[in-house]
Amino acid sequence: MSKLLFVALSFGLLALAVGDQPLSSYREFEEIEYEEVPATRNDERAYRLPTTVEPLDYDIYLDLFFGERADRPFSYDGSVDIVIQAKVENVRQIVLHANVDTIRDVKLKNLAGEEVNLNSQNPHETEALYHFLKVNVENPLTPNVNYTLHIEYSSTMNEGPMKRGIWRGWYTDENNVERIYATTHFQPYNARQAFPCWDEPLFKAVFKVHISRPSGYNGIFSNTRNTGYETLPNDRVRTDFAATPVMSSYLVTFLVSETFTVIAEDTSFNPPIRIIGRSNTVGLADHVLELAVKMTEYFSNYFGIPYEKLHPNLLNDHVSSPDWASAGTENWGMVSYRELYMIIDKNETIMSNEHYAATLVSHELAHKWFGNLITCYWWSNTWINEGYASYFGYMATHAMFPEYEFPDHFNSRYLQTSLAFDSSISTVPLNHEVNTPLQVTGHFGTISYSKAASFLRMTANIMTLETFQKSCKLFLLANFYKPTNQFDLLQAMNEAIVEDNSLANYPGFDFGEYYKIWVNEPGYPILTVDINYETGQMELKQERFFLNPDQKTTDQVYPIPITYTTSTNADFSNLRPSQMMTTASTTIEKPAGEEWVIFNIQQQGHYRVNYNHRNWELISDALLNQPDSIHYLNRAQIVDDVFALMRSERMTIEFALHILKFLAKETNHHVWDPAISGFNWLRARIRHLPEKQAEFDAHVLSLMEHAITTLGFEPKEGETPTVTMARQSILHFACLLGHEKCVQESWDRFYDWRVNGNSVNSRVRRNVYVTGMREGDGEDFNFLLAKFRASNYANDQLEMLRGMGATKDPELLTRYLQLTLSKEVRSHDKLNSFNYALLGNQENYKTVMQFVKDNINEIRTAYVEDSPARPVHSALSNLAGYMDESALEDYEAWLDTQSDLPQLATAKGSITSARNNISWGTANVDKILAAIRSSATKTVTSLFMLVAMTVLLQVV
Ligand SMILES: *[C@@H]1O[C@H](CO)[C@@H](O)[C@H](O)[C@H]1NC(C)=O
Ligand SMILES: *[C@@H]1O[C@H](CO)[C@@H](O)[C@H](O)[C@H]1NC(C)=O
Ligand SMILES: *[C@@H]1O[C@H](CO)[C@@H](O)[C@H](O)[C@H]1NC(C)=O
Ligand SMILES: [Zn+2]
Repeated sequence: MSKLLFVALSFGLLALAVGDQPLSSYREFEEIEYEEVPATRNDERAYRLPTTVEPLDYDIYLDLFFGERADRPFSYDGSVDIVIQAKVENVRQIVLHANVDTIRDVKLKNLAGEEVNLNSQNPHETEALYHFLKVNVENPLTPNVNYTLHIEYSSTMNEGPMKRGIWRGWYTDENNVERIYATTHFQPYNARQAFPCWDEPLFKAVFKVHISRPSGYNGIFSNTRNTGYETLPNDRVRTDFAATPVMSSYLVTFLVSETFTVIAEDTSFNPPIRIIGRSNTVGLADHVLELAVKMTEYFSNYFGIPYEKLHPNLLNDHVSSPDWASAGTENWGMVSYRELYMIIDKNETIMSNEHYAATLVSHELAHKWFGNLITCYWWSNTWINEGYASYFGYMATHAMFPEYEFPDHFNSRYLQTSLAFDSSISTVPLNHEVNTPLQVTGHFGTISYSKAASFLRMTANIMTLETFQKSCKLFLLANFYKPTNQFDLLQAMNEAIVEDNSLANYPGFDFGEYYKIWVNEPGYPILTVDINYETGQMELKQERFFLNPDQKTTDQVYPIPITYTTSTNADFSNLRPSQMMTTASTTIEKPAGEEWVIFNIQQQGHYRVNYNHRNWELISDALLNQPDSIHYLNRAQIVDDVFALMRSERMTIEFALHILKFLAKETNHHVWDPAISGFNWLRARIRHLPEKQAEFDAHVLSLMEHAITTLGFEPKEGETPTVTMARQSILHFACLLGHEKCVQESWDRFYDWRVNGNSVNSRVRRNVYVTGMREGDGEDFNFLLAKFRASNYANDQLEMLRGMGATKDPELLTRYLQLTLSKEVRSHDKLNSFNYALLGNQENYKTVMQFVKDNINEIRTAYVEDSPARPVHSALSNLAGYMDESALEDYEAWLDTQSDLPQLATAKGSITSARNNISWGTANVDKILAAIRSSATKTVTSLFMLVAMTVLLQVV
């Protein structure tokens, strides 16, 4: 209540002022309901709960048992009282979720506390496929009146984090004693494993959690502050936690341990901001504490709703969990993260991990408002939760931690990732109907995170950052504690736009149409620009972009924010579109004159660009001779677009590699990032032709020479995190390709560590560990393995696993793969570790294949094949990508003997995919090599030669 009053008082005036604006385009739009579900989906809708009954309030009693009950170790008994109301007449059946071992008792009471008769024949039933518990009442429920549903049940903790629900993990404490802890991971549909509930985000309610456990388990935490303890018989204690705000079931959480403790805190806040973790990480979380403190302050201010006003009972805890299935999960008041991202020590952590930790903490904190205070109505709308959190994780973090240069990194992390994913025929729109658990899990992917974040950034540039901030506030204000959908969001955006009149620059532009298309249509456009230098006329055309050259385009038109700059008037700073292109083609004018023109400034728009050949030549010339005249994010865009144009056969391989020659003078991380991805893509296609691949590698290494020399092999005093990351990824790639100096320098550092005890600078550990193992022997391997076992730093341990996976020795590699079956490699690291073995070394697939054949059953169990992430499916399909034809045949023959392997179809599909990739390489490798040979001989490219090439190549 107090919360309601606060918001009403503080923001009532603002809400009134803008609430009166007529929203014609919003209304129009709302009538288009996306109810037209294809027939095949009708059955899947059966996974959704009816909305005839709603929960208001849960009182949950959980009794957790560790080893105490010999017959049922790691189990729990529960009882829950749920206050519910029927919302319509004639409700005779209450349907909710339950995915527990045993339902022991179900009762229903009315407002007076009297028991209500259930159907005597069939009082309750379960439907396992849908995780439904159906309670049948004798007489219809009276609508809008409270009843209390009482359920008693028993269930078992999952082992390890991968299957979510209530699960147990392990750690060692400061005395090196191994201990078990229990915690929860409910997002998106696993609260039903802990207690029967309406386990869909729209059913928001209040949760009161009470947990009993053996008295030694005193490291106990939940969403809210605890309100007291009670000592119980049998040496047990119960802790009661205060009521949560009205929220979705997936946000409930707790952690029960013997020795988890506060490892860093700032008590100047109310609630205090605390980092919680294993007792032997005390003092190692100051860095993430600073992240949490500053971002809490930032968001409190930005959204105009301070953290402490979200709800009086909520905590602001951040748990560092040794096991965690994802990177982090935004449970309200108590976020949990994989320990990897919480223990950041500049002396022990590689830069990419420190960098990621900053955006992760910020992402999870942003969820306190976007995701928890307001929540997507259903997982079809996950992008509203994840898109905003991802956007703020980069764009907002920049305000407090500018040294990380997050807005620049946004491009490779989100925009380019999305452009790559969203260009296939099988992509889906942001708003995409999902029903089954597998579909729900699948929608927590590139589209909901990367495309949504990119869409929001593009939209913010159109409406201005000020109006965007206003729309966020309006959206939160109008919907707090409620589930929301795309129409609520559009309404808030429209209100802010109208109030600020912020689209005045774009007469006739229909924002609702822009939003409808980008949210509800799949894919994105490629803009083709054809410049007449004599008149200055630029003809623009757009079509949906498909990476597959055989895919016919559609007639979908996307509203495109147009930004561009020209050589004579170069300005790469203005991100506000000069106009909105809402038609399939249009013409705009620049001053006459031959000069390069570049569209999509700083690659802020979610589209690709292609030009007439002459313009590409002019760009290429500038890249070679005056690279700094083009902004580094546009140099990165050009690399990213050129690879996509080449793959989609809009540009020849020869011309693409010609443009990319400028990389020989490039040192910028953002430019090299898509370049390394693109070169990896090409390399993977010619793996089966080792000699040709070697020639290609030599070319790539020659392009990298300048960057390697400039960056050096040690971090320099005062360099930016981005420069450190450039070194990290360039050296890792260069050493993989066998760059002699890289290998020598890395090996020397490994040797100096092993023999002289001089530790390796944390920022170059990746290339040093990997090279140490690749070039080393059993003694080196044992040394690193011992270090792995002794380390208290999850990040360093992961880098050591990556290193060990790169050993060339089949015997050592087999030992490494055996290690992945043991609990020493945490289940969330198993698939990564498997991939490291493949990535570390070209020939390693042979040993990996043998290991898979010998241990398939152990892999299936240890890697937790039935967890939502489907790690065994991924492992078996990744394997195919490293094989040549004879290995593929062998793999296929083996699969034919494994007829009941659940991953059979996926693995066979990957063999087909690998063959397609190989055949692309076989068909194109000579063109690739011819292109690099010819470019090697032309040290200086004159404009004349470029003109000559135009005629020869006739590239469009
Ligand atoms: C119905 O339940 C809600 C939630 O527990 C409570 O706030 C409300 O007071 C109850 N109504 C009545 C009439 O008891
Ligand atoms: C990091 O290493 C430097 C140099 O070896 C040392 O002075 C510093 O104390 C270390 N920092 C921590 C947190 O251990
Ligand atoms: C073939 O290439 C595509 C596109 O790069 C990739 O997604 C796929 O995983 C590759 N196939 C295999 C088996 O590696
Ligand atoms: Zn998130």
